[in-house]
Amino acid sequence: MPGILQQQSDERPTQIEVKELHPTFGAEIDNVKLAELSDGDFKTVLELMAKAGLTDTTHVDFSRRFGDLDDIRPYMTGGRKPRYDYYELFDAGNVDEKGNVLATDSPRSHYGKGNAFFHVDSSFNPRRASYSLLRAAKLPPPNTGGNTEFSDSRTAFDTLPEELKQRLLEKDYVGAHSLHSSRKRGSPSFFADLHPEDFPMHRHRIVQRHEPSGRTNLYLGAHIHHIEGLSETESWQLVWSLMGWAIRPENTVSVEWKSDGDLIIWDNTAVMHRAGGGAYEGKYVRDLRRTTVHDASSTAWGLNEKKDTRPGFNSFENPASQKLQASMT
Ligand code: OGA
Ligand code: MN
Repeated sequence: MPGILQQQSDERPTQIEVKELHPTFGAEIDNVKLAELSDGDFKTVLELMAKAGLTDTTHVDFSRRFGDLDDIRPYMTGGRKPRYDYYELFDAGNVDEKGNVLATDSPRSHYGKGNAFFHVDSSFNPRRASYSLLRAAKLPPPNTGGNTEFSDSRTAFDTLPEELKQRLLEKDYVGAHSLHSSRKRGSPSFFADLHPEDFPMHRHRIVQRHEPSGRTNLYLGAHIHHIEGLSETESWQLVWSLMGWAIRPENTVSVEWKSDGDLIIWDNTAVMHRAGGGAYEGKYVRDLRRTTVHDASSTAWGLNEKKDTRPGFNSFENPASQKLQASMT
């Protein structure tokens, strides 16, 4: 992946250095003016674009080049207003509507705890996500944590013990994904009265072909509630042994955000990610904003019916779900 990109600026090509972040995946690209990038080969599985210089508007515009964008409309019920001018921007930060740092015991902090597990974005929706583009609007001070960490789930599949690989290929397991499940796992006592089994789950095959590269991917992550056709015990054993394999240190990279304006782009159909946590929590602003691209591959919808419902918590009358919905605001 490391190499040189050519960017045309002021009619002279500029060389942009691509630095390796990890031997099997991930690159860092400094000072690229993304809003001016030509239609070259800008698609990859994991890239940190340092000082990409995007605003909310150019972030959303640039993201559209990857495909149709997901939006937060399903969550905006009861007169709630989006935090930004664009429904396409998801709030992945720790800032309240007044700009203060969220208390670590606030409902939204409890909601966010599930992001500390390796996951893929939107696997709980009928149509999954391909790319996520996460931008640092404002970072906490250096050395207070808050890295974002990634796992290479294609290499995880390639390096599995042969017997397990064969079993997976033969059985062609289906994972049932639930946002309720990962939120509850992130903060079990806060969400004690929430029962993921009461809500629809969405189904995606665990072993899938990553179409852009032709490689095989393990499509897992913390939103998986269970694997169909297995007992609860068998399902847990298999999910967590595969997750454990995928997130071994040699298969992961911890990406340090360096400057406000940095942008990380990843392909959820080839990598998992998680929020690294750290001393900044409850103390310093970490304002991250994300766009999420709807997958357009042939397995985008998994085994789900093609419909526009996304399990935003507004869709359910259940009081426990409403508590979860309130924790998102
Ligand atoms: C996300 C996410 C990780 C982070 O925005 O999807 O998981 O480091 N973010 O905040
Ligand atoms: Mn995420």
